[in-house]
Amino acid sequence: MAAQENTPTKGEASGAAGTAPLHVAIVMDGNGRWAKRRGLPRTLGHRAGVEALKRIVEAAPTLGIRWLTVFGFSTENWSRPAAEVAELMALPKRYFETDLARLEREGVRVRVIGSREGLSRELVKICAEAEARTAKNEVFDLNVAFNYGGKADIVDAARRFAEEVAAGRASPADLTEDGFEALLATAASPPPDLIVRPSGEQRLSNFMLWQAAYAEFIFQDVLWPDYSAEHLQAAIAEFQTRNRRYGAVAPDDALATG
Ligand code: IPE
Ligand code: MG
Repeated sequence: MAAQENTPTKGEASGAAGTAPLHVAIVMDGNGRWAKRRGLPRTLGHRAGVEALKRIVEAAPTLGIRWLTVFGFSTENWSRPAAEVAELMALPKRYFETDLARLEREGVRVRVIGSREGLSRELVKICAEAEARTAKNEVFDLNVAFNYGGKADIVDAARRFAEEVAAGRASPADLTEDGFEALLATAASPPPDLIVRPSGEQRLSNFMLWQAAYAEFIFQDVLWPDYSAEHLQAAIAEFQTRNRRYGAVAPDDALATG
């Protein structure tokens, strides 16, 4: 489909100018600070974060985005106080209860990427239902990273390959970058063109480590619950000023040094 035409093949120099990022990944951050500034419990910050997620999932396709991956809960977030973990665990239900029918209707395919280990039976069921009800959709892809960690993603892929080898179905010499990528939780999406992190923090926090190899990074000084379509539009505008070379040189410079 046309959506993938903008994605250069590996090693091909390309400016991002004028092309929308097809796959955007967002670290939804700043819920706690948003609540604190208002003298509210962190819980309410997370709930406001779900409203921001709805706005952004609705806006993304209108801005030329084809794949959206959002970081909802990391493998490290288990170390938060139990009450906060419980609140975070309730967010997918809150989100899908209020938005799944729309996602289903609008052609959004949902995948919940991350480990199901440690999730309640109810939550696993909710995730499975969201995936099943939208499995045939092909207008837009929403990956919800929940109980996801970039290191765990890589280790799981490595383990799966090792299991293939142990079973005699593959040999170590068969392993390629593309083959490995196909074992990651994000196998159904191309790598992100743009990774956005609001809230002023400038780090990846174990999000899509492998997939981020050639992503552009944009950090925005807004807390996630306040994030709007305008913020996403601004990030896209900035992305379009970036010169993506994938380790190659721009064609003009190649001539100059030739
Ligand atoms: C993002 O907001 C939600 C998750 C990481 C699950 P935070 O809870 O990290 O908010 P801050 O960083 O404390 O403001
Ligand atoms: Mg945070």
